[in-house]
Amino acid sequence: MPSALPPRVVTTDQFPAYRDDETPSATPSGDLWDLSNNEISLPPLPQVLSILRSESGRAHLYPDPRAQCLVDALSEHFPVDRGSILVGPGSAGVLQQLLLTLCGPGDEVIYAKPCFDAYPLLVATSAARGVPVPLTATGEHDLHAMRARVGTDTRVIILCSPHNPTGTSLTPSDLRDFLVGLPPGVITILDQAYAEFDEGADPRDLGLFHAHGDVVVLRTFSKAHGLAGLRVGYAVAPPALVARARKTAIPFSVTRGAERAAIASLREQDTLRQRMAYVRGQRASLFRHLSDAGLAPLPSRGNFLWIPLGAGSERFAEESARVGVKVRAYPGQGVRVTVGSEEAHRLLISAARDFSRAAT
Ligand SMILES: Cc1ncc(COP(=O)(O)O)c(C=O)c1O
Repeated sequence: MPSALPPRVVTTDQFPAYRDDETPSATPSGDLWDLSNNEISLPPLPQVLSILRSESGRAHLYPDPRAQCLVDALSEHFPVDRGSILVGPGSAGVLQQLLLTLCGPGDEVIYAKPCFDAYPLLVATSAARGVPVPLTATGEHDLHAMRARVGTDTRVIILCSPHNPTGTSLTPSDLRDFLVGLPPGVITILDQAYAEFDEGADPRDLGLFHAHGDVVVLRTFSKAHGLAGLRVGYAVAPPALVARARKTAIPFSVTRGAERAAIASLREQDTLRQRMAYVRGQRASLFRHLSDAGLAPLPSRGNFLWIPLGAGSERFAEESARVGVKVRAYPGQGVRVTVGSEEAHRLLISAARDFSRAAT
């Protein structure tokens, strides 16, 4: 006789695994420039390469389960109490820990739509219900609509600034106004994966975190620091939440190489600033060229551009693939292209011209 199964509390059945539905990226031209992942196009810093070489000889040893040296380095960097820092395997890993800690069946998590693809999946694995709220026509968070969706079941609101995929950012006053009057206990997670690319903001500024008890700031070493392949991210959060969220961690999930590389990158603030200036320059140039080619990208604060092409989005992605550039299409909405190398831009701009010509 079949035993009675407990009701399913994790509602992932209707979701694919993360980006599982993408087709492989072969292109007729063979060479593929991948502008679909928002990675930085610059190589790892020499210090990072030498750390990775020296760590390879210690691969038989477990890392520090608390990654305490990185916690200490971040605590000095901001500065903020050690107890407010939660590190994990990428900011996606940290976000998962936070959601597992904060949410359960019946709870709701509000976020913008479209958003970073992992939000709905991570919310579903926490057994909470996602409440996606469409962006405005100009690609911004609709903060009024998001506030209107806050109810008794709301546990978490995720805001992303600069926003993936549109590149818009929230001003400190937008954020302050939004937070005022939120019910106590509703946690706002401010995902700032792209903070360093935003010329209008100081990435060291944690003013909002200090001013509001229910704010978590989520950051990563994957983007500006160029360590996407090493998987290391962190949150600055109220200490009681950090203490609980640590218990949801997969043991040893931040490797020693990742920890040491992150610390080394954090020390290289001058190099980081130079790299950000370079990426912003490339972003401005790509924006200009795509606009001249007849597309209308949105101004962006991230290391990517959003082109709201609506029904033409998949066609543009195909046109780009044809010339050897992979971009990220959001069917029926737009295309997100990462700011990359000059060669990749040159090809992408030629695809944009062909696309515009075909459309006229
Ligand atoms: C908005 C946003 N948040 C978080 C992440 C996750 O980054 P990671 O897990 O590499 O730190 C990404 C990755 O693309 C992202 O776009």
